[in-house]
Amino acid sequence: MQVHLETERLWLCAWEPDDLAAARPVFTDPDVMRYINGGKPRSDDEIRKSIARQQNHLRSLGFCLWKLIQKSDGRLIGDCGLQPLELDGVSEIEIGWRLAKEYWGRGFATDAALVALHHAVEYARLERVIAIAMPENRASLHIMEKLGMAYERASQKDGFDIVVYARHFAGAASKKI
Ligand SMILES: CC(C)(COP(=O)(O)OP(=O)(O)OC[C@H]1O[C@@H](n2cnc3c(N)ncnc32)[C@H](O)[C@@H]1OP(=O)(O)O)[C@@H](O)C(=O)NCCC(=O)NCCS
Repeated sequence: MQVHLETERLWLCAWEPDDLAAARPVFTDPDVMRYINGGKPRSDDEIRKSIARQQNHLRSLGFCLWKLIQKSDGRLIGDCGLQPLELDGVSEIEIGWRLAKEYWGRGFATDAALVALHHAVEYARLERVIAIAMPENRASLHIMEKLGMAYERASQKDGFDIVVYARHFAGAASKKI
């Protein structure tokens, strides 16, 4: 297992093709997917493609939506990190998070997002990071605020209403996140 970043309770790791079985329960849970695609479980083929996409992002950008491994038992509990996103005709870098339901409400996503954001901004000298969420996804919006992101605008993605939050990092190398 290739560990790239860590929090007190989590490892943020590179994806491997044989993560499919461990990722399936997270990506197929309608409650987890509710505010991502309306609750549609991902097929194995979609999960495989998503793993391959994150492997490519890591190779080409040095960051990705990492797989999250709980240190205490080695379980894959979700994903969190940064990836490219085309939104409203603009190429952006977005930060995102997704956890298996039994891990919600314990601060895992905020912890992981903080280290992932810090790493990507420093490593790739990012000047702007966005996050998107359906407006009903209060937990996600709250994480965005805790990351110092500010509401920018309402938009649409894949037919869903979303809100866009953003944070700018001019002179990122010397700034504390
Ligand atoms: C969104 C998600 C990752 C949050 O994970 P988490 O580990 O529970 O988040 P955290 O505990 O780090 O932080 C959530 C914050 O939102 C708050 N929160 C949770 N539900 C809330 C609600 N309904 N209204 C307002 N605030 C809420 C929590 O209290 C916490 O704030 P606090 O630290 O100030 O107490 C998790 O719910 C999830 O995986 N959801 C399904 C996938 C998803 O929607 N991903 C995001 C797509 S944009």
